[in-house]
Amino acid sequence: MKKLIIINGPNLNLLGKREPTIYGSLTFIEFLNQIKSKYPNIQLDYYQSNIEGELIDKLQEVGFSYDGIILNAAAYTHTSVGIGDAIKAIETPVIEVHISNTFSREAFRHQSYISPNAKGVILGFGLQSYELAIQSFL
Ligand code: DQA
Repeated sequence: MKKLIIINGPNLNLLGKREPTIYGSLTFIEFLNQIKSKYPNIQLDYYQSNIEGELIDKLQEVGFSYDGIILNAAAYTHTSVGIGDAIKAIETPVIEVHISNTFSREAFRHQSYISPNAKGVILGFGLQSYELAIQSFL
């Protein structure tokens, strides 16, 4: 059984209520339950934190034993050298995902410290970005 984990960064705990015109009206837990029942043959774990160091701790914890990491580092995507370095330091491949098309938004969202170290990047497909990332690991 493949072991995958979705790691979500800051403010993604507010999905469903946060700027629904950009991020949709489904909560992440509702989405996750749908995905889990659609892919019963994978172990799909989930972690969310608003704290940069906790995201790094989680990457280090799972990064030598899981088959894949699906990471939406949210705003830290555009600022965190530390998360970028953590991805370089671990063995498990990381797919960077974003709900919105960050390139169609403000210029500061065009920079990513994750992309150069990621296996691939999927963005702009709403919550489906996560599902496409899962499929890429199967
Ligand atoms: C996001 C895009 C980021 O720029 C933003 O800071 C987020 C969410 C996305 O999934 O579209 O919090 O990562």
